[in-house]
Amino acid sequence: MVDPLLNDIYKAELSTDDFNKLSSFIYNESGIKMPPIKRIMLQSRLQKRLKDLKMTSFKEYCSYIFSKEGLNNEIIHMLDVVSTNKTDFFREPVHFDFLTSHVLPELASASKHRNIKIWSAGCSSGEEPYTIAIVLYEFMEKNSNLEFSILGTDISTQILQKAIDAVYKDERVEGIPFDLKRKYFLKSKDRENPSVKMSAQLRGRVRFERLNFMDKSYSIQESFDIVFCRNVLIYFDRETQEKVINKICTKINTGGYFFLGHSESIMNMDLPLRQIKPTIFQKI
Ligand SMILES: C[S@@+](CC[C@H](N)C(=O)[O-])C[C@H]1O[C@@H](n2cnc3c(N)ncnc32)[C@H](O)[C@@H]1O
Repeated sequence: MVDPLLNDIYKAELSTDDFNKLSSFIYNESGIKMPPIKRIMLQSRLQKRLKDLKMTSFKEYCSYIFSKEGLNNEIIHMLDVVSTNKTDFFREPVHFDFLTSHVLPELASASKHRNIKIWSAGCSSGEEPYTIAIVLYEFMEKNSNLEFSILGTDISTQILQKAIDAVYKDERVEGIPFDLKRKYFLKSKDRENPSVKMSAQLRGRVRFERLNFMDKSYSIQESFDIVFCRNVLIYFDRETQEKVINKICTKINTGGYFFLGHSESIMNMDLPLRQIKPTIFQKI
């Protein structure tokens, strides 16, 4: 028999009015744009939330989210649902080549012993910070005067838990060269669900924290030599992008590097950055 609650939820429709309320709430909280074309997407993504909360209509959900209790408890779940977490190991490999050929040799030659600090801002399920850790380890084999630590941050607590768990389906690492897989990934013994886990050595270099780019200022204490903020700002409007990048820049050391996604641009923005390559910048 079909669960009647599920049945009702299946029919639950997000009216234009409720969609408008939710989309401006999402925009204010996360900077993520929700144009009318995304109404059906939001409706289907939120249906599971309605089920978890045992609610049968979006009216009920809207009253909850705008109540005191909802504002305290539901925001995190809601943002988990609306964020797009697509990512990959060695995504946009030109950036990792540039790290190895330019950035790391420069940092290695700058001082005798150097602890490089890296921030993967909008790190999703961890593939980006773990890729950076692999690149750093490979470089350190020939440059033993370097140390490094990586911070991964994201708005979604669910996705951060995946990053901390560091377990990935086999197919996610298919394209990675065998010798890197052998060094940095542990194979599970479960043959029915083949997966890999990042090695303890690698996990020890990366820590994760929740950070919302919309926060007034970022509570991170350290400053970074390298910041990756790729394929995140694309969801924000230009004004928000400029504000967010300016806040990120306060955490980059002078001369430090900033990487953007390949479809992102900061043209005509007022930022303390100079362009080195189309999506690679240096803090001035
Ligand atoms: C498409 S993924 C990009 C992951 C990775 N940087 C890459 O390029 O493969 C975008 C990530 O940005 C996060 N995100 C969206 N809005 C955010 C916000 N306001 N603050 C922090 N992270 C946010 C999402 O949760 C998501 O994990």
